[in-house]
Amino acid sequence: MRDSYYITTPIYYVNDSPHVGHAYTTLACDVLARFMRLDGRKVKFLTGTDEHGQKIEKSARAAGMEPQEFTDKVSQNFRDLAKAMDFSNDDFIRTTEARHVRSCQALWRRLKENDQIYLGGYAGWYAVADEAFYDEDELTPGPGGKKIAPSGAECEWVEEPSYFFKLSEWQDRLLAYYDRTPCPVAPETRRNEVVSFVKSGLKDLSVSRTTFKWGIPVPDDPAHVMYVWLDALTNYITAAGYPDVDSADYRTFWPASLHMVGKDILRFHAVYWPAFLMAAGLEPPQRVFAHGWWTNEGQKISKRLGNVIDPHDLVAKYGLDQVRYFLLREVPFGNDGDFSHRAIVNRINGDLANGFGNLAQRVLKMINSSCDGKVPQPGSLTLEDDALLATARGLLDSLRKDIAQQAFHKALDALWQAIGAGDRYVNEQTPWSLKKTDPARMNTVLYVAADVVRHLAILAQPFVPHASARLLDFLAVPGDRRTFAALGTADMLRPGTALPAPEGLFPRYIEIAEGAAGRS
Ligand code: MSP
Repeated sequence: MRDSYYITTPIYYVNDSPHVGHAYTTLACDVLARFMRLDGRKVKFLTGTDEHGQKIEKSARAAGMEPQEFTDKVSQNFRDLAKAMDFSNDDFIRTTEARHVRSCQALWRRLKENDQIYLGGYAGWYAVADEAFYDEDELTPGPGGKKIAPSGAECEWVEEPSYFFKLSEWQDRLLAYYDRTPCPVAPETRRNEVVSFVKSGLKDLSVSRTTFKWGIPVPDDPAHVMYVWLDALTNYITAAGYPDVDSADYRTFWPASLHMVGKDILRFHAVYWPAFLMAAGLEPPQRVFAHGWWTNEGQKISKRLGNVIDPHDLVAKYGLDQVRYFLLREVPFGNDGDFSHRAIVNRINGDLANGFGNLAQRVLKMINSSCDGKVPQPGSLTLEDDALLATARGLLDSLRKDIAQQAFHKALDALWQAIGAGDRYVNEQTPWSLKKTDPARMNTVLYVAADVVRHLAILAQPFVPHASARLLDFLAVPGDRRTFAALGTADMLRPGTALPAPEGLFPRYIEIAEGAAGRS
């Protein structure tokens, strides 16, 4: 396994305000990036904005602005989102930056030199909303004789001179790529869809446009701008230092370990992008994972329906760690999910307040009141003590496996199984009654429980970073002993260490009255 880990989000179209769908994709990447850093890997986590193309040009015009002025303004919304969600990205790329223009033009030249691009003419359907070309047989009739793409976007007929990429030559090499181990396209069902799409035959792809200007000029033919998906996908190598393929950054981080995408944009990432890269003599990504889509209380999320969920509002209402936990726990990653107030409140109260928070609180409170606020001195361990410690010590390996598969729900389930085991242990050992009958044994029980809580807090950091940090503060764990390397026995809690007075970690969410709600 290589030591470096390069993870990317899709770059977001700036015509839209950030909503829960965008936050979801980046959150998943943030958890992976944090996990890998804590696990000692050298991480690069990239996000950014997709700022060229006809769609953005139209939106700028509708806003009465020049495209550059418009994108400068709205790109900031995505930086603000990253701040509000405490995303730990190492870089934020905008496709209007000089480094990216240079990279795209270099890639284009390379494709041209490799005889992968030729000049022709495109006559066919195009959906501006998707920035995608469609075949007639993919479309359905819509109102007023319009043609509708599978995504629901309206198509228009386009006829213009265009450069083409020789995608048709890449069928066999793409199929061989999908057979690599570990599988470069996940989940399995999505991989199968991609394989059957490629097996059905690939046509050359139009990769330049001439009917508008807002894009990266094609080298040596400025009447053309590059197709916005070729431009956008290239962001992943730009941020790794392309075209400087000998740079330390490029050698460390390319090929990307994982491109995280929504299911709607898998074809671009799992078919076109690896083909572009292989055609330029570059390595394709190690993995592309397509996650599902969120609906809101059962309905598709759309501006038209007025049910867009603003992540800033979610965080203000429920709390950041609560939102992060809910989004990754509620739905098996890869499946579609439904956002509902009821569901998030159940998770907050059931899993966070009554689960993790309660276990931590009861152990820390007892240490505070019955052990003079200091980590107690344990005596010899019983089978029960050893069994619980073994459960906690086994978590890292099982989380590593789940995280390698992007199975966040499984990783969280494993953590919460251990929380349940910790609770049962405390219930069975009854340290409150040992206080009178056998204080030495009480010390051992509280020591074991506290060290298990330490394991849980360290391992939960990628998911609920704020609550975990507070919990580690309550356990007086030094800042440099909070990585996964500190999960071994050498870093167990030091008896006698003074602990600060603990406070609640996850308040219960109380419905105050119909329509009004709050956190206690
Ligand atoms: N600009 C392109 C990506 C270019 S990457 C080289 C794009 N941008 S987008 O802003 O429209 O979408 C970005 C991501 O948000 C996609 O992965 C998409 O799947 C995700 N989501 C948008 N709505 C969503 C939901 N309702 N639920 C979950 N994710 C959704 O596509």
